[in-house]
Amino acid sequence: MNAVDIINKKKNENLTYDEIKYMVDGYTNDSIPDYQMSAFLMTIYFKGLSLDETSWLTEIMVDSGDQIDLSFIDDVIVDKHSTGGVGDKVSLIITPIVASLGIPVAKMSGRGLGHTGGTVDKLEAIKGFKTELSDKEFEDNVKNVGVSIIGQSKNLVPADKKIYALRDVTGTVDSIPLIASSIMSKKIAGGADAIVLDIKVGSGAFMKSEERAEELANTMVSIGNKLKRKVVAILTRMDQPLGNEVGNLNEVQETIDVLTGKLKESDVIDVSVEVASQMVLLGNKADNIDKARQLVKDSISNGKAYDKFNEFITAQGGNMDSVTGNDNVKELVVKSDKRGYIEGFDTQDVGHATSLLGAGRLTKNDVIDPLAGITVKAKIGDEISKGDDLFVIRTNHDNADDSINILKNSVRISDSRDIVNKSPIIKIISS
Ligand code: URA
Repeated sequence: MNAVDIINKKKNENLTYDEIKYMVDGYTNDSIPDYQMSAFLMTIYFKGLSLDETSWLTEIMVDSGDQIDLSFIDDVIVDKHSTGGVGDKVSLIITPIVASLGIPVAKMSGRGLGHTGGTVDKLEAIKGFKTELSDKEFEDNVKNVGVSIIGQSKNLVPADKKIYALRDVTGTVDSIPLIASSIMSKKIAGGADAIVLDIKVGSGAFMKSEERAEELANTMVSIGNKLKRKVVAILTRMDQPLGNEVGNLNEVQETIDVLTGKLKESDVIDVSVEVASQMVLLGNKADNIDKARQLVKDSISNGKAYDKFNEFITAQGGNMDSVTGNDNVKELVVKSDKRGYIEGFDTQDVGHATSLLGAGRLTKNDVIDPLAGITVKAKIGDEISKGDDLFVIRTNHDNADDSINILKNSVRISDSRDIVNKSPIIKIISS
């Protein structure tokens, strides 16, 4: 077997398991060079992969490194994955909800890069919260509290790490089979028996069109079928920031507003309730989705989800009193210079502007300011007058002019009254 023959074969025919393994293992252990792997990835980009090939690629990538051993948990391990968005604090919200309903959460989460944030960065906005725990502490917290979230410490899916870095610089990121196998391999290596996928669609998402998002969803559900994992994919709108808060402490505060019932209506509540309900169903804690939704809503209204959040944060050293501590940060207001109705956002720009304020990383080594963030004061369909607030900015930077300009230009304001803020849930796809 050699790489050139395999690349040539892929131009016209499907590959075998062994041929895909030869390429992936060879690239991971440095026996296949970047230029041959680049050609291979570009061939896949144009020719696609069959479902068998995509599932094999997923399995081979899972086997390339460590897998989390969660055998100390007797229950079904239900995980959740979001393809990433702006203001996406759904993981923070649903974790204590599902844990309060008896679904164990044992998760390794990532940090943010680019215009989207990461769960670990958000949790670290709570003073004292430790995202590095020993295996024993992690296990004890899952057993005693029902939930633990830590940063990526194991060598999970090294093949994906290397291949993703190459895809990033060879124009091969936006290939559905490559994205699907990349995401699914990490979830499976993380120990998931069942997975709820929140696939974002719109101007702040990786997938800009519903058609592409649906294709990705179907591919991941099918990989789940092949690899014996139950998968439910929810397509949700990312055509505006989710909820009203973007930035690390801002998002923790909005999470608390949802869990305490202070915030009663919001797109972030709709998405969180749906994701949590699907997890409750997959975790066999309800007979049907309506009952699951009721359990989820009850866990918020009876305070159990918020109690679990406190327990989880405290168990990992977090000081809940610190979450209101952003009084010292500078606040600036971006106002509208016309009247009308909010028609839409360039949501990726909103995320980028928030990163520039210090809330995100533009490069891997940037240090995050947990206090930096924005509050979105008007959402799609809202009527605004000239001079009304569009965004409130929090930053420790002396100069926020770039962010202010980006935010001003990110909002489209229309004269039409007919703009409807559509439900954030577009479609649910399961096997
Ligand atoms: N996220 C991933 O983890 N992998 C991809 O390929 C794309 C997005």
